[in-house]
Amino acid sequence: MSDGLPDAVATRYDRGMSPSRSSHVEPPSVLLLRRITSLACPTDPSHGLVVGDDGTVRCEAGGVLPWHDGVLDAMGGDRPHLSVAQLSNLVPLTPLVYERFWRVRSLGLLAGRPFPIEEELAELAAAVGEVTGGLVVDVAASEGLYGRHLAARGADVVMVDHSAPFARRARDRAAAELIADRVLPVRARAQRLPVRTGAADAAVMGGSLNEIGDLRGALAEMGRVVRPGGRIFTMSLVRASSTPGRLLQAALGPSGIVFPTVEETRSLFPPGVRIVEERLDGVALRITAEVDARH
Ligand SMILES: C[S@@+](CC[C@H](N)C(=O)[O-])C[C@H]1O[C@@H](n2cnc3c(N)ncnc32)[C@H](O)[C@@H]1O
Repeated sequence: MSDGLPDAVATRYDRGMSPSRSSHVEPPSVLLLRRITSLACPTDPSHGLVVGDDGTVRCEAGGVLPWHDGVLDAMGGDRPHLSVAQLSNLVPLTPLVYERFWRVRSLGLLAGRPFPIEEELAELAAAVGEVTGGLVVDVAASEGLYGRHLAARGADVVMVDHSAPFARRARDRAAAELIADRVLPVRARAQRLPVRTGAADAAVMGGSLNEIGDLRGALAEMGRVVRPGGRIFTMSLVRASSTPGRLLQAALGPSGIVFPTVEETRSLFPPGVRIVEERLDGVALRITAEVDARH
């Protein structure tokens, strides 16, 4: 065991090879991928993915998506320019400390009032509604705090993150919580989700908008993959009103972290996605939005 999690939960996976070659028992992520038929080629979401008998994943438009340690690689050859903040999430140590030492405490510090993680997760659950049997995309998921919570409530969850160490950590945490059969860790960019248009019942993003890079592009993708009437939930940090807060946020600017105002955050949501609820405590903004029926 390491860090409270089983070591090498995915020992059956051969690096870069199809997952089932070393065993006839299919890993949970392959079984899940067979059930979720609405994943798409990262380079063209109008084309689906085909899972071969041996677990090899092919894009209908051509090309293979490799598995790396139980994580499906849907980067599609992308090598985006990364900010300092984004680079810090590629360091293998970061996923070992992120959720436990920062994420579960951070809103209590940023909201200006006690804000237990249970409250945030209850808001998330209320925002997306009943998800049993549905498909949820957790965008820039890190360890998959939101996605794991919704998988435990019965959703199939595609956990997207461009950081391989974080995607592996999400895989391990899902296995430790016995929900690996409902969590598919995928390495992909938020701006190019490997999901068919309108295929998801909900898309969620906890705390990542501030460092996502192209904010509008990421929210447009969330709007694209969610079905009409489906929900989007985001938690992000907004510009501070106090002088010390603004100075701190300005100091973080060079790392690539941005703090839009509430109005600016609202305006980033794409046409056809209607904000139905907003909550703000300190700098912690939670937005629930719904994809219009005509979309
Ligand atoms: C603040 S953490 C996310 C926290 C997580 N959503 C949660 O609720 O605990 C930011 C995450 O976003 C990921 N990330 C940043 N930019 C990304 C992008 N453009 N595409 C995919 N993942 C991205 C990072 O690798 C990191 O894991």
